[in-house]
Amino acid sequence: MRTHYCGDVDESLVAETVTVCGWVNRRRDHGGVIFIDLRDRSGLVQVVVDPGRERVFKAAERLRNEFVLSVSGTVRMRPEGTENEDLKTGVVEIVGVGLEILNEAETPPFQPDDEDVGDEVRLRHRYVDLRRSEMQRNISMRARITGALREFLDARGFLDIETPNLTRATPEGARDYLVPSRTHTGNFFALPQSPQLFKQLLMIGGFDRYYQIARCFRDEDLRAERQPEFTQLDIETSFMDEDRIISLMEEMMCFLFKKTLNVDLPAPFPRLSYSEAMDRFGSDRPDLRNPLELTEVSDLMRKVEFKVFSGPACDDAGRVAAMRVPGGGRLTRKEIDGYTEYVGKFGAKGLAYVKCVDIAKGVDGLQSPILKFLPDEVTMTLIDRTRACDGDVIFFGADKCRVVNESLDALRNLLGVDFKLLRAKWRPLWVVDFPMFEWNSQLKRWTSLHHPFTSPRTTDPEVLRQDPGACLARAYDLVVNGVELGGGSIRIHNHEMQRAVFDLLGVGRQEAQDKFGFLLRALKSGCPPHGGIAFGLDRIVMLITGCPSLRDVIAFPKTQTANCLLTEAPAVVDGAQLEELGIRTVEPAADAPP
Ligand code: AMO
Ligand code: AMP
Repeated sequence: MRTHYCGDVDESLVAETVTVCGWVNRRRDHGGVIFIDLRDRSGLVQVVVDPGRERVFKAAERLRNEFVLSVSGTVRMRPEGTENEDLKTGVVEIVGVGLEILNEAETPPFQPDDEDVGDEVRLRHRYVDLRRSEMQRNISMRARITGALREFLDARGFLDIETPNLTRATPEGARDYLVPSRTHTGNFFALPQSPQLFKQLLMIGGFDRYYQIARCFRDEDLRAERQPEFTQLDIETSFMDEDRIISLMEEMMCFLFKKTLNVDLPAPFPRLSYSEAMDRFGSDRPDLRNPLELTEVSDLMRKVEFKVFSGPACDDAGRVAAMRVPGGGRLTRKEIDGYTEYVGKFGAKGLAYVKCVDIAKGVDGLQSPILKFLPDEVTMTLIDRTRACDGDVIFFGADKCRVVNESLDALRNLLGVDFKLLRAKWRPLWVVDFPMFEWNSQLKRWTSLHHPFTSPRTTDPEVLRQDPGACLARAYDLVVNGVELGGGSIRIHNHEMQRAVFDLLGVGRQEAQDKFGFLLRALKSGCPPHGGIAFGLDRIVMLITGCPSLRDVIAFPKTQTANCLLTEAPAVVDGAQLEELGIRTVEPAADAPP
């Protein structure tokens, strides 16, 4: 029977007999003596087997990496000079007196302490990958994080309530994962994109404070911070306004960071309106550790000869913005070309710049290919407005707002890293005052910025109908270090208002009735004012552990193309199963992408 975890064997146990269990991390033979590094989730301990102990020694000789053992022995101090400072247990060792091989192992595809193992191999053999100390640390941290969040919410009267996974579509802006029904042939369940409607129904059902660590499913383009199947900490409350929800959630985040990292987050978190965030950072999830900011210069560029600038400056949907980079004057032509290519990925057609060499000399002290197109007063106003100093460079984006914002946001993030500008470790903020709707020029209709259940500021459906583009939403997002950790809103609790929003979104009366009839009826049954929020749990864990990808904090994640390399899901199913479901599949065309 195990008496201790490997990583817990220390000086206090010297001369005692212990039994540890774990995996052979390495076996080393040293002139007759065998050393075994035995590993479990707590760490490593060194076991020494002396040839004098014949039976144990014989067993030790058979050992290979990743064999599973139980070892008993006496703890002793390591001989002077052989201590290992990198190891928690590095000053002691166990002198093996008993050794049982509990299971053998084939040669693993990689060693848990190998570096540079490809992602694909790691995911295919995830059970070996999970033995790596980093994965052990991440997954344990994840459990501590969910524990802390539960502790906070339980103490404040939130009830953990489950909601269905086999349900109808909940519109959160992605494609649904569908599940065919056998009992209702030709019909499909949708896996929830979030528990949004159910948590609202729970408020109508009188539970007052709900939370759930809920699995969500979204068939969307994947990135490092997106998985098709992910986890939300989902929260809803009745009779609280946005200020109270925001401050309670802020308290929860501070509690979490204190408990897991012993970090005091800088509370209260600043609040930035959506429009200010877009103006100053080109993004609604700015990384405030980065001091770079955009400066609006559209007004200066309307009449200039340089069409690249005057075009967007005169276009209502266009923007010309400048970004000053302190010390950027030393960038070479080649480096600037590199950044130009980078912003090109975000649609920018170029990256105009002005280098400030000696501002005291006026335009003669500046270097730029575009100066000849700009009147001197405009150039000097620009220098003034961006507060440029000698040695700086000013970059420009001129295009449709979306292109300027996306490209300068990306450039700002990249320069923040390249110029080592990131200050402070943690910079949370709330983004508030989102517009209710966004005009989608492709679909030729309004779409929700959050979701269709978010309440507008106005309580009058008529005001909303008259100028949907001008209406603000009672929504809020939590952003930490440039990562959108969570988003929520006060919900519509009035039946008329919900109808008005559906109308504006182009959801016809019949469609609204078919898809959301249950909600519309429930809103008429005595619905309390309510609101809530959902946090991306995986993203919280990613941020706290400092990992670059969600894959590092999910035990069994999916790949970029939304499959599981370990189980090889999704997979073809049996013809009989399909028949039972009334489904026939179509052979993909020969030239279809895989
Ligand atoms: P939203 O769609 O903003 O809101 O999602 C909330 C949070 O979930 C995380 N998230 C994701 N994490 C990993 N992979 C994904 N594909 C993914 N998509 C979203 C983000 C995000 O901030 N029902 C509303 C919440 C509410 O209004 O209460 C909702 O789902 O961190
Ligand atoms: P051009 O006249 O196209 O050679 O462009 C002159 C300068 O303006 C170059 O430095 C380009 O990189 C830059 N430029 C061109 N288009 C844009 C744009 N849409 N936004 C910002 N800079 C641009």
